[in-house]
Amino acid sequence: MSATLTMTQPDDWHLHLRDGAMLAAVLPDSARHFARALIMPNLMPPVTTAAAARAYRDRILAARPAGSMFTPLMTLYLTEDTQPAEVAAAQAEGLIAAVKLYPAGATTNSASGVRDFQRIRPVLERMAEIGLPLCVHGEVTDPEIDIFDREAVFIERVLDPLRRATPGLRLVLEHVTTREGVQYVRDSGAGLAATITAHHLLLNRNHLLAGGIRPHFYCLPVAKRERHRKALLAAALSGDARFFLGTDSAPHPNAAKQSACGCAGCFTAGNAMPLLAEIFSREHALSRLEAFSALNGAAFYGLAPNTSRLRLTRVDGENLPPRLDTAEGPVTRFDPGFASAWSATVLPSAKEPRA
Ligand code: NCD
Ligand code: ZN
Repeated sequence: MSATLTMTQPDDWHLHLRDGAMLAAVLPDSARHFARALIMPNLMPPVTTAAAARAYRDRILAARPAGSMFTPLMTLYLTEDTQPAEVAAAQAEGLIAAVKLYPAGATTNSASGVRDFQRIRPVLERMAEIGLPLCVHGEVTDPEIDIFDREAVFIERVLDPLRRATPGLRLVLEHVTTREGVQYVRDSGAGLAATITAHHLLLNRNHLLAGGIRPHFYCLPVAKRERHRKALLAAALSGDARFFLGTDSAPHPNAAKQSACGCAGCFTAGNAMPLLAEIFSREHALSRLEAFSALNGAAFYGLAPNTSRLRLTRVDGENLPPRLDTAEGPVTRFDPGFASAWSATVLPSAKEPRA
C-alpha cells in the first residue's frame, strides 16, 4: 500500500467560513490544503443579495493568510423573494457559482429559507436556462418526520418533484448521508450530483450516541446507520463523477456545542484531506482520492482542475492541535481518534510527477 500520493490540489465544494473573528481564525485551516471552496451563505443575516455576496467575498479575500491564493466561490441564499434577474446578473458578473436552498428551519441559520416551493419556481426556471447549479440541503423540516428519515423523505417529497417540474436544472444534493440519497443520484443523469463530507465517511450514529453523546460528532444531516455510511463510502470510492467532496466544515465555539442544546456542525477543514487519505488508503483506493476531491467537483461546476498539487504522506503522530483558539472561544477540530495521520503539503506547480 502506497504511503504517498501526489495529486491535483483539491477543492472543497461545501464550506462554512463564518464571518469576522471566526472567519479570520478558521480560514487558514481551509487555505492550507484547498485551492478553492464553495462558500455557504448562512451568515446572520444570510447572504441573499449580490451586494452582500460581493462584500462577503471581499472580507474572505482580506482574511487570507499572507501569500495565500485560496479562492472563495460564492453562493446566494435562496429565499421566497429572490429575484431571477438578480441571480442571473450575479452569475453573469462571475460573482456566484451556485445558489443555496435551505428548507426553512432545516439547520443552523436557515430561518429565512424556503417554505413554499412554488414560490421559487421562477428563479429555478431561470437557473435552468443559464446553467446555474442549485445546491440543496436535502432534509424535510416536518416535525412529524423522524430526524433519521428526513433526507430520504425530502428526496421523495421535494427533490424528485422539483426536478420533474424544472427539467434541466443542475442540482447538488449536499452532504448526502443515506443509501437512498446515493441511489437516487446514481439513478439520475449528469445534471444531479452529490457532495459527501469526510466525517460522514467515518461516522455512523453509534459513534455519535453509543456509550455517551459526542457533541463534536453532531452535525446535520445527522450521521445514519452503518449501512448508509457504507453506501457513502462506496460512492466516494467509485470514481463516479457525480460524487465529490464538500467538507461541510462548520465551526462552532465549544460552548455552543457542549451545551444542553448543542449546535450542529463538525469543524473538519484542516484535517479533511489527511482523514480522506487514511480512509481511501484503508480501502486500497488512495489513487481514487484525486477524482473525488480534486476533479469531479471542478468538472461539475465547469472549472478547470487546479494546476497546483497536493502531496499526502503518511506520518505517524503528525496532527493539528485538537483545538483552534478564536476570539469567540476555542473550536474543537474533528477527531475520529485515528492512530495514523497524514501530512499534506501544497506543491505550487505541476512539475511533480503523478504518484
Ligand atoms: C451547518 C452550520 O453550522 O452552518 N451545520 C451542519 O451541521 N452542517 C449548517 C448545514 O450545512 O447544515
Ligand atoms: Zn453545510
